[in-house]
Amino acid sequence: MKNTMVAAVAAMLLSSTAVSAVELEVTHWWTSGGEAAAVAELAKAFDATGNTWVDGAIAGGGGTARPVMISRILGGDPMAATQFNHGRQAEELVEAGLMLDLTDVAEAEGWREAMAAPGMLDSCTIDGRVYCVPVNIHSWQWLWLSNKAYEDAGVPVPTNWDEFVAAAPALEEAGKIPLAMGQQPWQSSGAFGVMAVAIAGLDTWLAVNRDKDAEVAGGPEYAKVFEAFGKAREMSAGSNVQDWNQATNMVITAQAGGQIMGDWAQGEFQIAGQVAGEDYTCLPGLGVNEIISTDGDAFYFPKLDDPEKEAAQKQLASVMFSKETQLAFNLKKGSLPIRKDVDLAAANDCMKKGLAILGDGNVMPSGNQLLSPDTSTQIEGLMVEFWNDTSITPADAQAAYADIIASAD
Ligand code: BGC
Repeated sequence: MKNTMVAAVAAMLLSSTAVSAVELEVTHWWTSGGEAAAVAELAKAFDATGNTWVDGAIAGGGGTARPVMISRILGGDPMAATQFNHGRQAEELVEAGLMLDLTDVAEAEGWREAMAAPGMLDSCTIDGRVYCVPVNIHSWQWLWLSNKAYEDAGVPVPTNWDEFVAAAPALEEAGKIPLAMGQQPWQSSGAFGVMAVAIAGLDTWLAVNRDKDAEVAGGPEYAKVFEAFGKAREMSAGSNVQDWNQATNMVITAQAGGQIMGDWAQGEFQIAGQVAGEDYTCLPGLGVNEIISTDGDAFYFPKLDDPEKEAAQKQLASVMFSKETQLAFNLKKGSLPIRKDVDLAAANDCMKKGLAILGDGNVMPSGNQLLSPDTSTQIEGLMVEFWNDTSITPADAQAAYADIIASAD
């Protein structure tokens, strides 16, 4: 009798789940091996609610995916949820009234109080309303090194940027490329930003990126950054790959010494079975000043004018923010959880370094939070052009950069 009742209740629950199950298309640009493993955790958690995640991965990186996402939303063919970076990438879509307001979910679940880096919810907030759910803290400020590449070259693994530059000739003699770099414009531009913080210091970087001070951008502190960037260009000669994860793979396979890349690179080392501290070394802040930038990914939910879908969208937002999903997703992604109450006992050495830096409060805003998408695109264009055309001198590039900053918003 008892068993029959349990079966009946279970059948009822199953059928009610089936009735309310909703399919949501979710777009993102996570297509590398590590990224795919991480996004599968989000899909799994949402599917466990009885709804269905319809995966809308867009290949080619954020620079390719974002225009597709934006034109679909503007063109009346919105997906149910979409990735953007924290900050200003979706600002115009929110201002145009196209995005679902998540304030009720955020307040009911105490998102603001739970955040590990409070500024990141501010990046989701416009006129006091919350329009996105942040899913991680991803910092750009890292140099990833292949321990084997240095061993093969017979030199110690560098502990900072100067040592990295000094070790380059030994690597070249051993037939390796000191610095791996892919051709997507955001890669050289991101590396430039990291070098600027390490070489010119945070205050100088803020003067340019936050205060848009063109004199500083064209001045002596930034001249040093451009000189170093020119040197980095020389160190990457022969690195003929396109995607960022192909460049990471050069480090994983010891064809290259290192890569300046955000900590999403960790997902790649992980699926290749490499161990932080043993097979690879990570230097936050290029080993010069340890700092974490509050970059990251967030999901936005375009308005669909469908109450059932809207309820499922809010459910997805809530699932993404939950402690369990945060842990499973971030361990695979190589990023840090957005919540301060997630126990990261299973974190690897590099994630632990990141957590300690975050705990010390050594954080800085990201370019995505301070610069408009238009300004970021102009800077990316300049950096990749400089990288590919060795006839452009560091001084030429600096002059063009100062011009962009002069009209930046
Ligand atoms: C995203 C990361 C992603 C990386 C490379 C960044 O914009 O924040 O989550 O892994 O791009 O695709």
